[in-house]
Amino acid sequence: MKILLIGPPGGGKGTQAKKLSSKFNIPQVSTGDMLRDHVKKMSKLGIKAKEFMDQGELVPDELILKMMKSKLSDDNCKNGYILDGFPRTLPQAKGLDSLLDNIDSNLDKVIIIKVDDDVIIDRMGGRRVHKNSGRIYHIKYNPPKNEGLDDITNEPLSIRSDDKKETVKNRLKIYHDLTKPLINFYNLKNILFEVDGQNEIEDVFSSIINKL
Ligand code: AP5
Repeated sequence: MKILLIGPPGGGKGTQAKKLSSKFNIPQVSTGDMLRDHVKKMSKLGIKAKEFMDQGELVPDELILKMMKSKLSDDNCKNGYILDGFPRTLPQAKGLDSLLDNIDSNLDKVIIIKVDDDVIIDRMGGRRVHKNSGRIYHIKYNPPKNEGLDDITNEPLSIRSDDKKETVKNRLKIYHDLTKPLINFYNLKNILFEVDGQNEIEDVFSSIINKL
């Protein structure tokens, strides 16, 4: 199964992608996580990407498409995957189509997770992450067992550097301007479904499962 999750920053894509990944035993492919990994390693791509990410801007399409071309041909993507955060512009969506055409493949379902902007601003202020694993928490809606610590490793949680209010506002604007046009793009392919992302995490998950 090849699933694409689209939604605003902080809309719950990562949270749901992790749950889908463990239910269906297919990898979560998150361009955000991949880029943060490059930034951590200070690779050539990471150094370039950081400038854009810190401002809440998108990393240029050609860099993203190059990174995804090699990722999607990985062996562990053979039986499907959950795309989280890619594509997020029309050129990326068209680029993905040609990558998939070349390997005689296609997306099965695209799920839009709908969340209002004011809810996003509230959520981002409370997000905490475990850097090494990418596990995601929220101080109010999905708290760790021990305050400030990862459930599995007990290591300290951190705040993402692009979760500042002003950066989040810019990320939301970019979502409305550049990513929302994908809704029409995938609607025309008849593979698009929408879920209400403002419900509780487990309810959003059930809605997604119902659409699959
Ligand atoms: P990326 O990491 O992809 O960020 P994003 O799309 O902005 O999404 P987030 O990871 O912020 O949120 P999410 O939807 O995964 O929500 P989460 O589950 O964490 O990208 C970061 C940056 O990298 C971009 O700004 C850009 O610079 C660059 N980049 C990445 N991909 C790119 C691409 N393709 N092209 C160009 N540039 C790219 O949930 C958020 C919080 O809410 C958490 O605390 C969670 O616990 C909580 N929560 C989740 N669901 C619920 C719920 N139902 N109710 C209450 N709380 C909830």
